[in-house]
Amino acid sequence: MTSSQNTDTSSKNIQLLEQISALALEYADKSPHDILKLAFAQGGEIAISFSGAEDVVLIDMAHRLKLPYRVFSLDTGRLHAETYQFLETVRKFYNTPIEICFPEPQAVQTMVNAKGLFSFYVDNHQECCGIRKVQPLRKKLATLDAWITGQRKDQSPTRSHVPIVQHDAVFSGEGKTLLKYNPLAHWTSADVWNYIRMMEIPYNPLHEKGYISIGCEPCTRPVLPNQHEREGRWWWEEATHKECGLHVSQQ
Ligand code: ADX
Ligand code: SF4
Repeated sequence: MTSSQNTDTSSKNIQLLEQISALALEYADKSPHDILKLAFAQGGEIAISFSGAEDVVLIDMAHRLKLPYRVFSLDTGRLHAETYQFLETVRKFYNTPIEICFPEPQAVQTMVNAKGLFSFYVDNHQECCGIRKVQPLRKKLATLDAWITGQRKDQSPTRSHVPIVQHDAVFSGEGKTLLKYNPLAHWTSADVWNYIRMMEIPYNPLHEKGYISIGCEPCTRPVLPNQHEREGRWWWEEATHKECGLHVSQQ
């Protein structure tokens, strides 16, 4: 690439980033429905990233809005049986395929053969999450222009600045600007649960057993009344380290 082409590309990128920041400001107080409509109005390949927990509300909203939505899930191989059943419930309830992303078998095998099946309790969750979640996500996102997540500001101290739309610099790849929409950023857990109850939509049965935030089975546990939902995730680690690498792009 010549230096004038380089300058062109970087000024286009700056323009795009400015547009994204402007959109984030403009839509900051809009409803999740408006943000979903905005995301689909931008065109390109876009999909909802569904964890099998309360982020089912995004699928419900996209469904009711009759948007041409796609859904993908990262199957780490370590989800609860209830979560696998819930994925199936959702697939049937909305009559929508769920694109399941598996980790690379060789990488999983090498790790567990060297360190056993519970190495994350000993040397933290980053390596296992890297293999079982982040690599498959990177592969999936390479096929998309934008993804939609259920991240909320109230979920964790690490998410207090989540915008409704952002440039996902971590997963963009060379020459590509991947967008990330977080339509529920401003919603609270109470808002989400009011929606689930009001709309009578299916939810993961683990929520009836004291689980609030749900991830992999060995790394998630129920919380007690008034404990923060994040205390049920990777409880042996510091609160400020409780990100697994899916959401590291927010400032
Ligand atoms: S995590 O990074 O700590 O595991 P969390 O469980 O809070 O994430 O979920 C936040 C959002 O990340 C979800 O709403 C969803 O969009 C995405 N996400 C998390 N886990 C998965 C998964 N296994 N498959 C697809 N998306 C996921
Ligand atoms: Fe591995 Fe736990 Fe991360 Fe799941 S949450 S990928 S089991 S470290």
